[in-house]
Amino acid sequence: MNICSICEDKKFEKRISITPEIVTKYTNLGLKVFLPENYGFHLGINDNKFKDSGANIISDENEIINNSDIMIQLGLLSDEKLSLMKENQTIIGVLNPYNNKDKIQALSNKKINTFSLELLPRITRAQSMDVLSSQANLAGYKAVIESFATFEKAIPMMMTAAGTIPAAKVLVIGAGVAGLQAIATAKRMGAIVFATDVRMASKEQVESLGGKFLMVDGSENLETEGGYAKEASEEFKIKQEELLSETLKKIDVVICTALIQGKKAPVIVKEQMINNMQAGSVIYDLAAIQGGNTALTKVDEIVEKNGVIIMGEKNILNKLPVSASSLYAKNVFNFVSNLYDKESNKININLEDEIISKTIIK
Ligand code: NAI
Repeated sequence: MNICSICEDKKFEKRISITPEIVTKYTNLGLKVFLPENYGFHLGINDNKFKDSGANIISDENEIINNSDIMIQLGLLSDEKLSLMKENQTIIGVLNPYNNKDKIQALSNKKINTFSLELLPRITRAQSMDVLSSQANLAGYKAVIESFATFEKAIPMMMTAAGTIPAAKVLVIGAGVAGLQAIATAKRMGAIVFATDVRMASKEQVESLGGKFLMVDGSENLETEGGYAKEASEEFKIKQEELLSETLKKIDVVICTALIQGKKAPVIVKEQMINNMQAGSVIYDLAAIQGGNTALTKVDEIVEKNGVIIMGEKNILNKLPVSASSLYAKNVFNFVSNLYDKESNKININLEDEIISKTIIK
């Protein structure tokens, strides 16, 4: 069986889905790997590195698609490339099915096996395949680095002969995977870190990282059975607004990560709250692409309001594509290992396996 990947549109996506390390693993599994020329060149990985690991490098991408049994990508291919795919081929990626309904429908009509990895269940067996976690972890780290680089004061407390510089105060809104990594990163750099979430379980996690949890007065646990956040009630939102309005006046850097599965991100930081923040404060909104956690977030723009800077990007992972690709490629390899049956040399779409039934799009 041939497992393949072609170049993404590098204007939007710098990550790759197969690294040399993973080529070796696929080869050991019994799969043949096909990649186009210069697949990883922009990440400092030349074709020889892929060839040495056992990959076949082909100049014509259309030929790669034609001969592929399994295609691994980050996002969906262009219409032109998708039109080359045929019945019984398999495509695996982070395909954003809610926003790509037409393209996904076209794949399904052609009987192409389509797997979207953001639909993986959050179960122990799927942890090594969990692309949302591996990428959110890096995003949380990088959001802190980006905002600290923009912030014009030092982060840790410094006691010098010339006087003392106080430690910066950081607020993390949403303490899931990205938020917890943001807390850990900011703490390591010497900041005083506060965090808030609607899920009670996150309080202990925040505290174990040395953060101070801000509990909304009288809050209930807004957590679904799957561990995700529920949408907050109007009463909760008002109380959260009161708490954060006061807190934000003293905060230097805010990292926003709050998401509700399958919905637009909640707007938590209102314009009035930003107006009351100190000039020079920085907000990094990781929820920007899902609509943003602040009222003023604009995707890929740096907004300034009364000296407060608000940033948010379409894809922060493009700022550390080597690390992000390394983890993504491993996640997908673990998914393929579960899907591929070595004995019959076929993929085994076992719908009794939750990992398969939840990620396949029909
Ligand atoms: P996410 O990316 O969907 O959301 C980020 C955070 O925002 C969540 O903690 C959520 O509770 C919070 N949030 C939503 N609305 C909010 C509001 N109005 N105010 C404040 N915070 C708000 O979350 P992520 O990182 O994907 O984690 C979701 C759940 O999945 C968590 O319970 C996590 O522990 C769990 N998980 C389980 C894994 C497993 O394999 N067992 C792996 C990774 C995550």
